[in-house]
Amino acid sequence: MESKKYYITTPIYYASGKLHIGNTYTTVVADALARFKRMQGYDVMFLTGTDEHGQKIEGKAKEAGLTPKEYVDRMVADIKKLWSLYNISNDRFIRTTDDYHERAVQKIFKKLYDKGDIYKGKYEGWYCKPCEAFWTDTQVKDGVCPDCGRKVEWAQEEAYFFRISKYADRLLDYYEKHPDFIQPQSRMNEMINNFIKPGLEDTCVSRTSFTWGVPVDFDPKHVVYVWIDALSNYITALGYGSDDESDFKKYWPADIHLVGKEIVRFHTIIWPALLMALDIPLPKKVFGHGWLLLGGDKMSKSKGNIIDPVILRNRYGVDAVRYFLLREIPFGSDGNFSTEALINRTNSDLANDLGNLVSRTVAMIEKYFGGTLPDIFEHHDIDDELAEMAVQTGSLVETNMDNLQISQALAEIWKFVSRTNKYIDENMPWVLAKDPSKQARLATVLRNLSESIRIISIYIEPFMPDTAVEIRKRIGANPVMSWSESKNFHALPKGFKVTNGKPLFPRLDLEKELDALEALKEKSNAEEKKKEEPEGVAQITIDDFAKVDLRVAKVTACEKVEKSDKLLKLQLKVGSENRQVVSGIAKWYKPEDLIGKKIILVYNLKPAKLRGVESQGMILAADTSDGAAKVIFVDDSVEDGSKLR
Ligand code: MSP
Repeated sequence: MESKKYYITTPIYYASGKLHIGNTYTTVVADALARFKRMQGYDVMFLTGTDEHGQKIEGKAKEAGLTPKEYVDRMVADIKKLWSLYNISNDRFIRTTDDYHERAVQKIFKKLYDKGDIYKGKYEGWYCKPCEAFWTDTQVKDGVCPDCGRKVEWAQEEAYFFRISKYADRLLDYYEKHPDFIQPQSRMNEMINNFIKPGLEDTCVSRTSFTWGVPVDFDPKHVVYVWIDALSNYITALGYGSDDESDFKKYWPADIHLVGKEIVRFHTIIWPALLMALDIPLPKKVFGHGWLLLGGDKMSKSKGNIIDPVILRNRYGVDAVRYFLLREIPFGSDGNFSTEALINRTNSDLANDLGNLVSRTVAMIEKYFGGTLPDIFEHHDIDDELAEMAVQTGSLVETNMDNLQISQALAEIWKFVSRTNKYIDENMPWVLAKDPSKQARLATVLRNLSESIRIISIYIEPFMPDTAVEIRKRIGANPVMSWSESKNFHALPKGFKVTNGKPLFPRLDLEKELDALEALKEKSNAEEKKKEEPEGVAQITIDDFAKVDLRVAKVTACEKVEKSDKLLKLQLKVGSENRQVVSGIAKWYKPEDLIGKKIILVYNLKPAKLRGVESQGMILAADTSDGAAKVIFVDDSVEDGSKLR
């Protein structure tokens, strides 16, 4: 029998910067779904990749002193490393700079042009550079992008347009006939009422103001609009438009495109319309998930409120972070990320509930039977209840996964984990162990616990693949198991041997963790800053230098800033003027080291507040090789107020 196929995609990630835990979320969810389907025997194609063209990336590369290709190569290497750290099991990774993709995009563009669905015109409208999105007058309110809230600019250029207006009715009709196409349902209403009903205007699909993109082959001063380039990845990755379209024939249409809610519009309006124009069937489902928030705000690099997924993974292990992301946020809604919640969940669900269940069971089998249970049985009715729940939990997980209720699927598994823990307390193996006539009952209870644990390991595998395998190793079960092996409660081989190990999830101390994470974050920020500095020394002109007003100042008073071990507050005399400056040098200087000394002040630096204290300028210091700072002192013979040149 031919196996059923399942084609799942994540968005392709902008290769424009480091990914944060919010980005990681989409891919971890997709990975759990892909693994679940694989275990069920589906022929899975799980695609992810990188979105590498566009003006923003061109600009970033320039800032970094690299060619765009060099720049994206570095970013892509980091992204791939991140996916490997998170055990992402993608079958394919597409880069929009891959030759085969670029050629296919050119073919798609030409096909639509020949058909009359792409035509040449003039573009005038609002453009949001960070989102690489065009907006109409009605969509832009107060001059800002409706998606990200940043300023849009008026752009005008010769451009190609996609005749999307022609597809509005067909889109509405499609939505109506396929009520599950856009999920959650509320997002479908938003698309209809906010975008389609007000009237779809033809979309500009080429740019001439920059070159980093796929050139339109029959008019090469144009590059293809990044979203057309990017969306096409879902079919070009399967060989669409190449000499070998066999994967395209096999896997398309996609079973699900998983995307964050802010890009649902592209996936449910532009993408289906493009596919209709190409006479290609539409994907079965687009699921728009919510955002990970930090302190109530969308986590995003531009806002600077991000959590580094590498730090979390290295400190807590991949499965604890995966579990947290999948369990904490009801899939579809926004959810707050907090380190406290991560630590609390790891302690309660993983260390206490799951970890203890495994270690207690294994320890008892070792203690009472030297690691291998004898073949003696004494069955009680309560055992059937456990066995039934074990198997029924599987159906609940299946239903929830098929409805994309991922956190609910985990909640069902944990109900069974708790039930199994309760079974230990109900049967009190330590009491049975004292009575030689209860050996058969003791062995049966421990066998049932081991079977429950084996089944739990199957259920958690899509979410926590490493832990699943580790648990099976400890209870002497086969490391590889299919989903169907959870349907049979009595499956452990005769004479299976258990082996204990270190705790699966050690208990974490909340206070200690919060401090440790803060320190790790600072270290990584410093490293990141260094990485982003252009290679070599960036040159400035004499005019650039002339903008900086440096003056000699005398320190007249100095004290520590309250509740800070880094900051000193200095009172300065600069000629006839007095200034107050806050400086992060308290680790290396005591106030008395500075009083009376002459230093160099950046006189025209915009005032800022540090820890609520006003700082009117900055004093100059040199970095030492061991990471300290040395203030630059000036000879006392130089008058304060003197300008440097
Ligand atoms: N390149 C486009 C997608 C093109 S697909 C044809 C893009 N890339 S992205 O790197 O900005 O985003 C990748 C994924 O991360 C998206 O699903 C996006 O919604 C998700 N997230 C970005 N910030 C997020 C949160 N704070 N929380 C959850 N997901 C978030 O968009």
